[in-house]
Amino acid sequence: MIRAQNLTAVGTVDLARLSAAEAVARADHLAHIYGSAQGAAAEPASGWAAHLVTSVQEYAGATVRVALSGPAVGPPGRAAREIVGFLHGYDLQLQHWWPQQVEPALRARGHGFWLEDAFELVELDVLPQAQGRGIGTALLTAQLAEMHQRRMLLATDPAGRARVLYRRLGFVDLVPDFVYEGTAYGAALMGWDRHA
Ligand SMILES: CC(C)(COP(=O)(O)OP(=O)(O)OC[C@H]1O[C@@H](n2cnc3c(N)ncnc32)[C@H](O)[C@@H]1OP(=O)(O)O)[C@@H](O)C(=O)NCCC(=O)NCCS
Repeated sequence: MIRAQNLTAVGTVDLARLSAAEAVARADHLAHIYGSAQGAAAEPASGWAAHLVTSVQEYAGATVRVALSGPAVGPPGRAAREIVGFLHGYDLQLQHWWPQQVEPALRARGHGFWLEDAFELVELDVLPQAQGRGIGTALLTAQLAEMHQRRMLLATDPAGRARVLYRRLGFVDLVPDFVYEGTAYGAALMGWDRHA
């Protein structure tokens, strides 16, 4: 279970960092939040959950931070606390899939150094009914404050509202018009630097 001493009060929602075992036990629920938040853009839940399980067990620096509902958020009439949003990522390592995808584009724009001493933000999702209450901001702010890395890198929908949130927290555009090789799938690559 989530230990009380790991909780940090943020309004009516508490934040906690899950152990690998806790993340594995909640993988299906996290996949549900991911699917609900991402909608049509979501990958199938089973494959997504399988990657989460692999990463928390095998990837260096794997981190799952969650926001737990307080009295004011969550299904009406249910007293039990539920995870309503989460952040997932790990140490950015060049042998992983995503860095291999984005490395050439970053280097071509003179941003290769962003790949050093960085945290790869894989996912930040909040249940639709809990969005717009500061939960995403709280999860990301906690990670930026507590991670040991100097930098954080992410890819997001170029036309999405999440970009506003990232810019507000100090992220800058690195490759705003990135396209995954062999696909028509575009993304904006953004980065945060502790010393910027
Ligand atoms: C992006 C997201 C994690 C932000 O969490 P949140 O708790 O809603 O955000 P906060 O309340 O802390 O901050 C609000 C800001 O988040 C962004 N935001 C709010 N709702 C959003 C949504 N449905 N989709 C994307 N961004 C959203 C906006 O920038 C908003 O600020 P604005 O109202 O001034 O434009 C959350 O909205 C979400 O899960 N969205 C859908 C999935 C997604 O886009 N994830 C990011 C993938 S990189």
